[in-house]
Amino acid sequence: MKKRLLMSDQTLFQDEGVFDFNHVPEQFAFRDAQLKDLAFAVRPGLRGSRPVNAVLRGVPGTGKTTSVHRIFAEIEETTRRLIPVYINCQHDKTHFAVFSKIYKNIIGHLPPLTGIARTRVANTIGKKLDELNAVLLVCLDDANYMIHDRTLNKVLYTLLRMHEEYPGTRVGVFTIMSSVDVDLTGMLDAPVQSVFRPQEIYFPPYDEEEIRAILRERAKGGFYPGGLSVEMLDFIVDRTMESGDLRVGLDLLRRSALGAERDARQEITREDVCAAFEVAKNLPLAVTVRALSEKERDLLRCIAERNRDGAGVLQSGELYEAARGREKMSYTAFFQRVKKLDEMRLINLHAPKQRGRTREIVLRYDAEKVVEVCG
Ligand SMILES: Nc1ncnc2c1ncn2[C@@H]1O[C@H](COP(=O)(O)OP(=O)(O)OP(=O)(O)O)[C@@H](O)[C@H]1O
Ligand SMILES: [Mg+2]
Repeated sequence: MKKRLLMSDQTLFQDEGVFDFNHVPEQFAFRDAQLKDLAFAVRPGLRGSRPVNAVLRGVPGTGKTTSVHRIFAEIEETTRRLIPVYINCQHDKTHFAVFSKIYKNIIGHLPPLTGIARTRVANTIGKKLDELNAVLLVCLDDANYMIHDRTLNKVLYTLLRMHEEYPGTRVGVFTIMSSVDVDLTGMLDAPVQSVFRPQEIYFPPYDEEEIRAILRERAKGGFYPGGLSVEMLDFIVDRTMESGDLRVGLDLLRRSALGAERDARQEITREDVCAAFEVAKNLPLAVTVRALSEKERDLLRCIAERNRDGAGVLQSGELYEAARGREKMSYTAFFQRVKKLDEMRLINLHAPKQRGRTREIVLRYDAEKVVEVCG
C-alpha cells in the first residue's frame, strides 16, 4: 500500500484554528475593566452623539486589538447608526489609505485611485455620514507606525474636524499604541490636541498566573485531552514570561504540537517546546521587521551589523556616518528613521546627559538574529 504523506490520523489538534493570532477567543478573561471603559466610550455613539475618543495603550500581546474587535462586533450586531471602522496602520499607513478604508466601509467601494484629491475623499465621507445621519467610530490600530512622519496628526486632523465642513457629522477615534512610553499629545499639533483629548485606557501586561490561565484555556480548546501535561504547560508559561509576549506562548503551543505530531507522538515533550522556542522567541522581531520599509530595514541591519561586530554602544552620529556610506540622506531623514525603529521597539534610544544632540542606540534583540531576519 502506498504510504500516505499528507493525511494522517495522528494529531494532537482538535481545532488548530484557535492558535491563529487573529482568532477571537471565546474566553477573554482579565480585561473586564478595559472592556468596560471601551463600552463607556462607545455608548454616546449608540445614542447618536460623538463617541469619547480614547487611546488604548499596553505592550504587545495584552489584548488591545482583541478588545476592539469584540466591541466593534457588538456594535455591528446592535445598530447601523454607529459605523465602526477598524484600520491597521501597519498596512494602511498613508492618509489616503486610511480614508480609502473608511470610504469603502461607508460608500461600499474603494475611491478611484487617481484623479481624486485627498480632501474630496474625506468630503464624500462627511457628506454621506450627514445623509445617513450616522456616527463614525474609527480605530487606528498600531498607530505608532504613523507617528514619525506625522501621518497620524494629519489623519486625526481630518477626522476630528470633519464637522466643521459637515456640521452634522460626529466622529470618534480610538488609537491603539503598543509603546507605553510615547507621549502622544506631544506628537500632535495644538489644533488636533484641542479636539482629540482622549481618554487613556491602559492594558497592563498579564502576570504569570494570567498567562497560565489563558494558555491553559487555549490548549483545552485546541488539543485533544492528554496532549499537554501540566509540567509542559508550566514550561511554556516560563518561556512566555521570559519573552514578555503572550503571542510567543500561543505560538509555542502550536509549534510544540506540530513537533510532536511530526514524530507521531500524542504528547508534547520538553524537547518539542525547546525546539519550538528557538523559532517562537523571535516572532515579535519577525513581525515588526516585516512591517518596515526597505530603507528602515536597511538602517536596522546597519545597526545590527555594527553591534554584532562589537562596536559597543552605538552613538547616533557614528551611525549616521555609517548609514550615509550606504545611502545619501540628510540627518533629519536619518533621525526620523531611527525614531521609528525606537517607536517600533526594535531599538532603545537613550539621551545621555550633557551630550547635546547625541543619542545612544541599543538594539533590543540579538544582533545576529536581527541581521538574519532583515534578510
Ligand atoms: N485575555 C485574553 N484571553 C485570551 N486570549 C488573549 C487574551 N489577551 C490576548 N489574547 C490573545 O493574545 C493574542 C494577542 O492579543 P492582541 O492581538 O489583542 O494583543 P495586542 O495588545 O493588540 O498586541 P499588539 O500590541 O502586539 O498588537 C491574540 O491571539 C489574542 O487572542
Ligand atoms: Mg494589536
